[in-house]
Amino acid sequence: MELIPAPRAVEEPAGPGVPLGPDTTLWAAPGTERAERWLRATLGAALNLPLRPGPPDARDGVRLLLDDTLAPEAYRLTAAPGTGVEIRGGGPAGVFWGAQTLRQLLGPDAFRRAPLRPAAALSVPAGAVEDAPRFRWRGLLLDVARHFMPKEGVLRYLDLMAAHKLNVLHLHLTDDQGWRIEIRRYPKLTEIASWRSRTKFGHRASPLWDEKPHGGYYTQDDIREIVAYAAERHISVVPEIDVPGHSQAAIAAYPELGNTDVVDTAALSVWDTWGISSNVLAPTDTTLRFYEGVFEEVLELFPADAAEFSGFVHVGGDECRKEQWTESVTAKTRIADLGLTDEDALQSWFIGHFDAWLAARGRRLIGWDEILEGGLAPGAAVASWRGYAGGIAAARAGHDVVMCPEQYVYLDHRQAPGDDEPVPIGFVRTLEDVYRFEPVPAGLTEEEARHVLGTQANVWTEVLEDSARVDYQAFPRLAAFAEVAWSPLPAPADRDYADFERRMTAHYRRLDALGVAYRPPAGPRPWQRRPGVPGRPIEGPPPNR
Ligand code: ACM
Repeated sequence: MELIPAPRAVEEPAGPGVPLGPDTTLWAAPGTERAERWLRATLGAALNLPLRPGPPDARDGVRLLLDDTLAPEAYRLTAAPGTGVEIRGGGPAGVFWGAQTLRQLLGPDAFRRAPLRPAAALSVPAGAVEDAPRFRWRGLLLDVARHFMPKEGVLRYLDLMAAHKLNVLHLHLTDDQGWRIEIRRYPKLTEIASWRSRTKFGHRASPLWDEKPHGGYYTQDDIREIVAYAAERHISVVPEIDVPGHSQAAIAAYPELGNTDVVDTAALSVWDTWGISSNVLAPTDTTLRFYEGVFEEVLELFPADAAEFSGFVHVGGDECRKEQWTESVTAKTRIADLGLTDEDALQSWFIGHFDAWLAARGRRLIGWDEILEGGLAPGAAVASWRGYAGGIAAARAGHDVVMCPEQYVYLDHRQAPGDDEPVPIGFVRTLEDVYRFEPVPAGLTEEEARHVLGTQANVWTEVLEDSARVDYQAFPRLAAFAEVAWSPLPAPADRDYADFERRMTAHYRRLDALGVAYRPPAGPRPWQRRPGVPGRPIEGPPPNR
């Protein structure tokens, strides 16, 4: 069984498997309806396996049921000729992850959308799989702000995540270069902030421009559809509205949000190049009220009960440049009025405002590790991106943490040395480097380590102009990441990378069937290269921080 991510335990007795075909029936106990619908739709389409309803004791049938002796996301899949295939889950999510395993057991054609031939002989190998995830939060960040990913692409990524047993999609919806979510009370966020007239092609030092307009946004119904599609797959969608930095697009639409006593914000446009803009939000009541209005609509669109982590709202908080606040009389006055020490404390006050605002509405704030600076309310969670240090500090202070250190799981970073990598940026982070990533920082006590909710891979898209480029950077490394997040792997040095590579041989065939434009092990295909487009490779090993 060449499964990815690797399950906890497998029994594979010799002998015939369970034959499946057009007459195979499916019995689904109450509570397993999502897996039932998914199996019919997916295996029905791919393999001509309609899985019509049948009794629980049908010969060689498929059975789905809940078993409260298992943990909520755990499952046990058994296949025995005569008896059939049974998936027991501790909860509905466990059954769903078991269904993902069943798909992998049926071969690469199970990952297509229509059958290749009318009636292929199908068989599930006899045996048993016992499985449960190591981490509860197994995330992927898609930066749909720098380059927009149309709705269809997001739905496709939700399917790819489900196939890898990932369960949190963090959508980075706003940045200097674009605003991607319709907010009804502020129409200029979509009329003005959702597009730019041209785009820097390559790293910001590149002389190249793509001179065509770029943009797009999700309507409120698109968001509802994405959230529901995700929930059907036991995936939580965590929206990020990045404040108070990374906000030039919003300021271009509503100039009163910026530091109007320092710059002529009415002259700003959506940013067309990369880096960290100095145009940050003004720390005024106008700004607070505006964003409360944004978050009111966000809370409506992302209901807290959609999936396990749907109560979380990400407020960014990273990389807020302070030069404008240093110059602004308005900001200085605010610092004095609030009795704060400096601009850093002002940022902490700003984030604290939304922490209290969200908590009062039964939600939990999550932000990048900069939000730790200046103190944080107890319920807030931290996404540790600047290495491990933020995660360690947060866990020690009793905050829940999602580990996504840039030196391991920023998948926009290049995955091989050499000139062939398209627009190479950052450190070389190979498939093996990702496989040997350890999410739990060394040195935490058991109690502190319990605050590590899990881990997340982040795909920033400054140099990823379309979904083929996103595929190239994300895969195959997301498969290694999924195994790190799900499987009970030993310490990094002891991980059996050769065995992972062996299983990847089967997994590449699945990715081919899914139409994923991954980086082949031998390097990019000709059309995956971007000759002449400057990146910014960083030489040497990443800092071990
Ligand atoms: C980040 O990479 N600025 C979170």
